[in-house]
Amino acid sequence: MSFELNIDNSQNEETIYKQLSNQLEHLIAPTDKIISNLSNFTSALKQSFSKISWVGFYIRSNDKLFLGPFQGNTACTEIKIGNGVCGTSALNKQTIIVDDVEKFSDHIACDSGSRSEIVVPLILNEIVWGVLDLDSYELSAFNEIDKFYLEQFCNFLVSKLELDKFALV
Ligand code: SME
Repeated sequence: MSFELNIDNSQNEETIYKQLSNQLEHLIAPTDKIISNLSNFTSALKQSFSKISWVGFYIRSNDKLFLGPFQGNTACTEIKIGNGVCGTSALNKQTIIVDDVEKFSDHIACDSGSRSEIVVPLILNEIVWGVLDLDSYELSAFNEIDKFYLEQFCNFLVSKLELDKFALV
């Protein structure tokens, strides 16, 4: 299925999130493959916000997170649960906003230009399936508005897609 996203980037961030929210219903189709839906989702975020330098999924298998669909520069392929911002978010099942990555001692630098970050866990039947990670070259790029909508979007993906059927091989 094909769907062209139509976002007016000149609006404020909350309005952009609302535009995205309205169009996700059409962009994310359960009849499409999970990997295709997740790939388009990362693209939709990247094209909506110029502050995003990197956006992608890390998907859990046992005690590690593995690089999934993303938009941006090449990134580290494996992160242990408990390590870095992604692994800490997965361990604690909580969203983490990092205003300055240099002040998060355990931050894993995939791109030395990255300055701030937000990581949102995707929780399926109380188990972390993976995380959504967004990076920015700007300090303090992410706030409570990002957290609110990104958590809503992750819950939407969990409810709409049969993520437990996604196999890491
Ligand atoms: N910074 C992350 C690693 C992933 S990259 O940002 C894409 C972390 O500390 O977990």
